Amino acid sequence: MAYPTTRLRRLRQTPVLRNLVRETVLTRNDLIMPLFVCPGTNVENPINSMPGNSQLSVDLLVNKCKELYDRGIQAVLLFGIPEHKDEHGLVACEHNGIVQQAVRALKQAVPDLYLIADICNCEYTTHGHCGTIVNGDVHNDLTLETLAKQSVSLAQEGVDMVAPSDMMDGRVGAIRKALDQHGFYNTPIMAYSAKYASAFYGPFREAAESAPKFGDRKTYQMDPANTNEALREVALDIEEGADIVMVKPALSYLDVIQRVKTNFNMPVAAYNVSGEFAMVKAAAAKGWIDEKRIVHEILTSIKRAGSDLIITYHAQEIVQDL
Ligand code: PBG
Repeated sequence: MAYPTTRLRRLRQTPVLRNLVRETVLTRNDLIMPLFVCPGTNVENPINSMPGNSQLSVDLLVNKCKELYDRGIQAVLLFGIPEHKDEHGLVACEHNGIVQQAVRALKQAVPDLYLIADICNCEYTTHGHCGTIVNGDVHNDLTLETLAKQSVSLAQEGVDMVAPSDMMDGRVGAIRKALDQHGFYNTPIMAYSAKYASAFYGPFREAAESAPKFGDRKTYQMDPANTNEALREVALDIEEGADIVMVKPALSYLDVIQRVKTNFNMPVAAYNVSGEFAMVKAAAAKGWIDEKRIVHEILTSIKRAGSDLIITYHAQEIVQDL
């Protein structure tokens, strides 16, 4: 029935009515907060381009996580800034690696906080690439070994989930196999499946001190122009054993999130990345936007597109309002 019988404005008349018919509701259960851990004690290095975020030493990270958990954050994604880097990123696989230390301390201090570890080499290699370099490019199959080692090492420390972000072919399968061989068959893999070679990672590379020293990541991360290829990436990751598939970044890739959600019956994660966060913060600092409303709208749109989990630096600030 058309107008005048049908009036869509009828259901918009009051806040209660709007609440009753709302299709997408953001909850604190959707959120994952990324955190950066660095060496030392009592160290807090604020990240310039990401206001409210810092590199924290393990002791301060523990305090921060207690506070976040009390505020309603139930899951965090950990990134490490190691004391030393090496050519192959092997420092990421050591019992005394920086994330390993953090996981041990956090599991003691905040046992119910769900710990996800980013699995990648770029924070740990001297050259800043996401794997082992051979003839000027990242060698896919050699890198798989380090990624599997890093994953097993973190699982041994008690990490709850691993999230490979390197974009090597076959890494989900290699990690799954290694985890299973070590008895960690219940440790889920959240794969950064459709991860694009994006300028939106700029602030993160300052935060994680992981910018490549030469070249770029275009031989392993995806071309922002492609979505059919994203579906192939996701399909392969699922075949190899991914439990959750991710699209990253989020905002410029809502179409990809939606295609992934409708094509596969899988939990989908989206990463609302550092550059997306920084743009909001910069505009808000100038008084040009209403930050709270914008953040709510952005995160709701990511969920509406089809994302079940949202990794976002806004989590710590928005969680109280949910
Ligand atoms: C590591 C990694 C990156 C991000 C998450 N894991 C950076 C990159 O690929 O260069 C970006 C996160 C963000 O921008 O917030 N490979």
